[in-house]
Amino acid sequence: MAKIKRIGVLTSGGDAPGMNAAIRATVRTAYYNCLEVFGIYRGYQGLIEGEIKKLMPKDVSGIIQRGGTILLSARSEEFMTPEGRKKAYDQLKQNGIDALVVIGGDGSFTGARIFAEEYDFPIVGLPGTIDNDLYGTDYTIGFDTALNTVIEAIDKIRDTASAHQRLFFIEVMGRDAGFIALYAAIATGAEAVLIPEIDVKPEELKAHLEQGRKRNKDSNIVIVAEGEKYGGAYEIVEKVKDDFKDYSIRVTVLGHIQRGGSPSAYDRVLASRMGVGAIEALLDDQQNVMIGIQNNEIVYVPFSKAIKNEKKVNAALFDIVDILSI
Ligand code: F6P
Repeated sequence: MAKIKRIGVLTSGGDAPGMNAAIRATVRTAYYNCLEVFGIYRGYQGLIEGEIKKLMPKDVSGIIQRGGTILLSARSEEFMTPEGRKKAYDQLKQNGIDALVVIGGDGSFTGARIFAEEYDFPIVGLPGTIDNDLYGTDYTIGFDTALNTVIEAIDKIRDTASAHQRLFFIEVMGRDAGFIALYAAIATGAEAVLIPEIDVKPEELKAHLEQGRKRNKDSNIVIVAEGEKYGGAYEIVEKVKDDFKDYSIRVTVLGHIQRGGSPSAYDRVLASRMGVGAIEALLDDQQNVMIGIQNNEIVYVPFSKAIKNEKKVNAALFDIVDILSI
């Protein structure tokens, strides 16, 4: 493989806290190894449209603590077409960029994989999504921060739920996966959790809450992942409200509050390690891999595996919610 000299870095898909820390680590590690770095703005769409600017180490100072992404993000339909990818390739060639670091989720890696194979172009991915739903890594950049935002909000709702002896259905993000919901349920002592991966029938939920009522529980919190099979918290309430007539029910959808904010210490360290890992991987002639973390070690996971395989939730965590809400 020809020696890599100029690296492009972009963020794509939903923003996640820690993306800036990952950009910073990528840029600085590249310069540390005498490589040049170019920031590509607005993800793949910006690449297609040539929104590319050289980044110096100084350009990434003061961003490790900031949420969002200084490179902006977008979801590009055009990159999903061969014509769009050809334009993207031409832009890379014009700017002399010979490798890419893509920070994003599975949609971003699907695009990266197709492009890398089509043009034999080295790409390394960093898992940046609050959903934690990428196979091959124990954690994704942004998950820990989002989780902390969620539990702070739920703790507040618990005060109101207790004061008014209410049943709250709280919807959290997770279009295809229940990691945020499950971890938040344990961390807030929720009475129940509904996630796409595990089927809970309305009768089962009712029976579970009734048991708590017999033990004089004065409030109930049910955390619902947005991708849960009925389609979210409002939809579930529609389904169960006739059976729950003697509960005072409220719904809260936490929404995009979960995506922003200053990254936690864990996400800053993870993003920094992964950014360093991305450049080291490229220097090591790795391509078409995602940087993951497994048992606290940095690992390389082929895009094909990270995309194709489904990361399973740990069913034991689901049981913990049940056991501890007694
Ligand atoms: O991919 C992360 C995610 O937070 C999902 O859990 C959620 O469904 C989605 O982003 C929302 O995306 P948008 O900002 O496009 O509404």
